Amino acid sequence: MKGKILVTGGAGYIGSHTAVELQNAGYEVIIIDDLSNSTADSIDGIKRITGKKPIFEKLDCNDLESLKRLFKKYVGIQGIIHFAASKAVGESVQKPLLYYRNNLNSLINLLDLMPKYKIPNIVFSSSCTVYGEPDTNPIDESAPIKPAESPYGNTKQINEEIITDVVRAGLPLKSIILRYFNPIGAHPTAEIGELPNGVPQNLVPYITQTAIGVREQLSIFGDDYNTPDGSCIRDFINVVDLAKAHVVAIDRMIENKSNDKVEIFNLGTGNGVSVLELVKTFEKVTGKKLNYKIVGRRQGDIEKIWADPVKANTILGWKAKENIEDTMLSAWNWQLKLREKGIM
Ligand code: UD1
Repeated sequence: MKGKILVTGGAGYIGSHTAVELQNAGYEVIIIDDLSNSTADSIDGIKRITGKKPIFEKLDCNDLESLKRLFKKYVGIQGIIHFAASKAVGESVQKPLLYYRNNLNSLINLLDLMPKYKIPNIVFSSSCTVYGEPDTNPIDESAPIKPAESPYGNTKQINEEIITDVVRAGLPLKSIILRYFNPIGAHPTAEIGELPNGVPQNLVPYITQTAIGVREQLSIFGDDYNTPDGSCIRDFINVVDLAKAHVVAIDRMIENKSNDKVEIFNLGTGNGVSVLELVKTFEKVTGKKLNYKIVGRRQGDIEKIWADPVKANTILGWKAKENIEDTMLSAWNWQLKLREKGIM
């Protein structure tokens, strides 16, 4: 058995998939989650996949005293993977203070306590949103950071800076910052997946909910972009592939393989796929006709962005493996499972 890893937000979409991969790799997983945007069913899903239930404590990372109690209870944590955050872009524009309070405080609390409880490593969930509209694609980690389009995006940028400043100040900490492109799909067992609260803001849950009849019609936001088919282009990365990168990142820090105390990696496939291509792929693999219409652009959307993942490929030795067809099928199988359980 390898060491203990704390996964904040581990009941959520990416966190639950990462907990599975950590357990598969032999780590002991402790999940904390306030269940504000997830349910404890994902904890059972992790058990159904791996045969082992991770330790779970319902806890908000903004609650410093509860965090202290947690670190006293579970000694010898080797690393933290910090997913817990509010993540709805639109809501962040309406409620900026909620986002700044939640997303900044939780990281500050962890960084504050880590040296005191001798926890040396933290992996931080960042986003390609920090690049804004790229000047060129694919985009690598040396590209300039652009002014954030939303308070949510700003919290990612500020948190990257907080980590860098804290490590530079000489505290005994190391960090790997992972900039995700667009995570999609679900675990191939359909035991865990994405479960958005209310009307989905992201494309793939909207597609699957439309196909199953929960939503009447998918709106495609714009077909007049400067792209081959006029719709936006993204780098859609399979969530299991993404989860595996976290295990490699944690291994790297624990084994002291990193040269720098803060390292940043893009996590993407390196391929740009348009919104319309993704819809067509969904129709092809499921045999279902999707009811969609083209509407106006969504404010704040990036025209096209896809990753240069060479740094993660070479230094982490990680590469996205799943293809877009299987990934879309996994998203659909997850939606079918939710229907079977009467959840959606
Ligand atoms: C969004 C966030 C990004 C965040 C990411 C997390 C914005 C501007 N960016 O990325 O900061 O890190 O989610 O997952 O919100 N689309 C439709 N119809 C829909 C939904 C989406 O056409 O109903 C299109 C969008 O216009 C976009 C693409 O699908 O071109 C992907 O959208 P989405 O899944 O929301 O992700 P991003 O906007 O790339």
